[in-house]
Amino acid sequence: MDSPKCINKVDIVIDSENVTFSKCCLTCSNNFIRVPFKEIYSMTEDQIFKFIWDLPSKKSDKDIIERRQDFNCEGSCITDWKNHPNILGISTKACNLKCAMCRDEVYTSKTIQQEKELYFRILNLACQRPEIDTVVPAVFGEFFMFKKEAFQFLSEAKKHNTLVYSATNLTILNDDDISELLSGKYDNFALIASIDSFTPSIYTQMRRGASCKDAFQVYKNFSRIVENKSKLKDFRVNTVIFPGVNFIKEDIENTLFVFESHKFDNYFLFKAVQTPLEEYTKEAWFTEDFQKRAHFSYSY
Ligand SMILES: C[S@@+](CC[C@H](N)C(=O)[O-])C[C@H]1O[C@@H](n2cnc3c(N)ncnc32)[C@H](O)[C@@H]1O
Ligand code: SF4
Repeated sequence: MDSPKCINKVDIVIDSENVTFSKCCLTCSNNFIRVPFKEIYSMTEDQIFKFIWDLPSKKSDKDIIERRQDFNCEGSCITDWKNHPNILGISTKACNLKCAMCRDEVYTSKTIQQEKELYFRILNLACQRPEIDTVVPAVFGEFFMFKKEAFQFLSEAKKHNTLVYSATNLTILNDDDISELLSGKYDNFALIASIDSFTPSIYTQMRRGASCKDAFQVYKNFSRIVENKSKLKDFRVNTVIFPGVNFIKEDIENTLFVFESHKFDNYFLFKAVQTPLEEYTKEAWFTEDFQKRAHFSYSY
């Protein structure tokens, strides 16, 4: 068996109470540690990053060795964790929406100032660290909630040749922001747009908190980015299928039709995961012609 591509990833979730660090690796398993917000906030950047590198592995050495053998992995990542994480993902709970399918803990209130400060301190330092080549600034939460700081961070990442890979709901970006994004300055930015429906009334049920006007702004943003996608590192669209809202054959076909009519093929359809309604999306019509047209996936 070929050696796996080691998945080197650390995720940080910041909220006003705690900061949670988790590492995810195919061979070494997952581990997470939750630390009171104030403790992390008062640390220097170097201390925070030492903390990330030293995060212990959850599995016992015996488990790790067995699992490593399964994958024919050299295991150097276990003894030298410093070389391990090359992707850093960060989540906040700050978001302008409260989408039907998303985690409950994402909330729409304005994040406190200190939480925002810590988030951007870690982001900005991450892109300067040679060990980290990719930063994902919004695994959960909305990256463009803090637009000015988000663009500053993109520029900082560009200076250090760091890839930024982030999903956005696109609702916060107006025409000027899209022009800035497509100016050619951010060719280190791989953007994932979340568009679950091209029917405004369905879109707004999925993306709770967005108005029909927001939906039209999102569609407009999508068209402009598709036309100028060469200005970015990459551009793709995620569509989440959620029972009771956009799990409607005609609507999904309409969404695919819009992508196809733009001659855009970098879109992915996901079944909503980690929700009690997940089971309902196992209907037969998913498995036929429809699946051939969509890049279909169970998780993201
Ligand atoms: C959690 S969001 C964070 C980034 C940004 N706020 C956005 O909506 O794009 C990241 C991606 O996860 C998707 N998503 C949200 N809830 C999901 C679920 N239950 N199952 C699968 N994907 C989900 C979103 O549609 C989005 O494409
Ligand atoms: S915009 Fe993204 S993070 Fe915010 S609630 Fe929706 S899916 Fe979740």
